[in-house]
Amino acid sequence: MITKRSPIAVFDSGMGGITVLRKLHKLMPHENYIYFGDSANAPYGVKTTEEIRRLTTQAVENLMARGAKAVVIACNTATSAAATSLREKHPGFPIVGLEPAIKPAALSMEWPRVLVLATPLTLREEKFQNLMARFADRAEFIPLPVPVLVEFIESGNLDSDEEIEYLERVLEPYADHRVDAVVLGCTHFPFARRNIQHILGEEVLVFDGSMGAARQCQRLLAEQDRLTDSETEGMISFENSDDSKVEQSIEMFYYKG
Ligand code: DGL
Repeated sequence: MITKRSPIAVFDSGMGGITVLRKLHKLMPHENYIYFGDSANAPYGVKTTEEIRRLTTQAVENLMARGAKAVVIACNTATSAAATSLREKHPGFPIVGLEPAIKPAALSMEWPRVLVLATPLTLREEKFQNLMARFADRAEFIPLPVPVLVEFIESGNLDSDEEIEYLERVLEPYADHRVDAVVLGCTHFPFARRNIQHILGEEVLVFDGSMGAARQCQRLLAEQDRLTDSETEGMISFENSDDSKVEQSIEMFYYKG
């Protein structure tokens, strides 16, 4: 039976969703959480839509069957591939997705030049194309797939020289204030936020959708009167399809970067 103290489940292809879990925990510290990363199958962003839909559906339905009161698909890629079909299949169950923060970036100033970093799948899906089309008269968008960055972050070797060299190479055409804003359209990327900011320029505005998703989760639970009534800090249970990644998940949760 689902109660107010049932956990909120957070799912990602691997480590990226931890950036969303951090925001959820900040906003709702008394809630219990299950974090499930599917690192054994990561990265998702270079797989087919069908494959990602299958993996995401399986993971989300498993978390639901274990009594989660809401599921946050803390992955832009998995959201594009599977959120609509999962919501259709489970009407009324709170399923929160992540999408690139195109709207706040487009509205941040007069006609900004906005670099959108995401996985190849997120950028080619219709969901993203429609979102970008909605704000096409407000901003210039430059979508840039950076799948290798996912792998650097997935390895847990944050801020390595290799990661910085890779970022310097792919971001070179936009470096030193040649864009006004950047959207981190993959939940792994906030772990590289400082390096991205440094290369693009300190004045460049950085957007990511994690706090928006956390607020949406809080709203949906409030609507169903399912926010916890506990007044002590909740528990977080870290799980991963690759057992060797559990400790790394905990370290990354506490990473100060
Ligand atoms: N974290 C995922 C996202 O937000 C993608 C990572 C992957 O390719 O597995 O898009």
